[in-house]
Amino acid sequence: MAIGKLPLKRLTALAIALFPMFALAATFDHPLYGVASIESVPKYDEGFAGLFVWLQEEVFWKLFLAIAVLTPLAFAGHYALIGAKRFSHEGKKILVFGLIARVFHWLAAISFIILIPTGFAMIFGETLGGGAFVRFCKNMHAIATIIFAISVLPIVVFWIKDMFFHTDDIKWILIGGGYLSKEKKPVPAGKFNGGQKAWFWLAIFGGIIMIITGALMYFLNYDLSPFASLLGLTQIELLRLAAIVHNFLGMAITALFIVHLYMSVFAIKGSLDSMIDGYKSEDEISVLHSSWYKKLKAGGKI
Ligand code: HEM
Repeated sequence: MAIGKLPLKRLTALAIALFPMFALAATFDHPLYGVASIESVPKYDEGFAGLFVWLQEEVFWKLFLAIAVLTPLAFAGHYALIGAKRFSHEGKKILVFGLIARVFHWLAAISFIILIPTGFAMIFGETLGGGAFVRFCKNMHAIATIIFAISVLPIVVFWIKDMFFHTDDIKWILIGGGYLSKEKKPVPAGKFNGGQKAWFWLAIFGGIIMIITGALMYFLNYDLSPFASLLGLTQIELLRLAAIVHNFLGMAITALFIVHLYMSVFAIKGSLDSMIDGYKSEDEISVLHSSWYKKLKAGGKI
């Protein structure tokens, strides 16, 4: 079925209705394990236990710290040396993001603004003194996950058709998206460029893996053996694997989220307007999305 023919309104309503129901069901206290939980995790120090402890104690926090410091520093350097791209907002405007896409994009944005700092608070929980503050962050992290989960399906439905990679995207990557020069030369890109597509796939499908691995860790006191045995693992191995995947993927998503923020707020002046009213200027599209611009012109849409 063509994307355009999907019953978008019904799918969106279903997604909105289902996620809070799952979330509510999941929050019921289920003391299935209780005291028996220790017995449910045999092979405490076998398998990749050593690797897990090393990553958890020595590696993850250093890599997260490096991302939190180096990515903004790199962008500060880019901003100082090359600066922002500016476009005229006088000419014609083209609607790029419809209202529903904008609403769900805002939900995703709000969720990430909560997810990332609260995730960091958990990673640096000991340094922050642990206790009530870190527990509060853990709960906020879970609530923000539900907000993100609500936004995922609609974002996929609205944007996926323009997110498949194209030869333009290879050219775009080879010239660094045109961001390594101050010149305003037309860049090969359709409605979305190679970088935006990479962000879409990582944030959405990586985000879904983050929800699953996060849920496994959140419900660690429950009987997860049916899921574990699907992968031929014990429950403790499944939890360790979930933690490892959640951390590495979390690093990649955090780094690209900082890129996304930098692009939206600093590197392209006025870009945030499209998040609010959905429109981009003809000048901006003709430079940053030149292949799409040619198509729009040929179709008489500009
Ligand atoms: C504070 C957080 C955020 C801000 C300020 C922001 C801002 C923006 C802006 C201004 C655009 C239009 C860029 C353009 O086409 O020139 C955009 C597009 C987009 N945003 Fe966000 N966004 C945020 C969070 C998120 C999150 C959390 C996700 C996904 C989980 C997301 C996914 C996307 C996607 C897929 C696009 C279309 C492709 C792209 O432009 O990268 N955004 N965002």
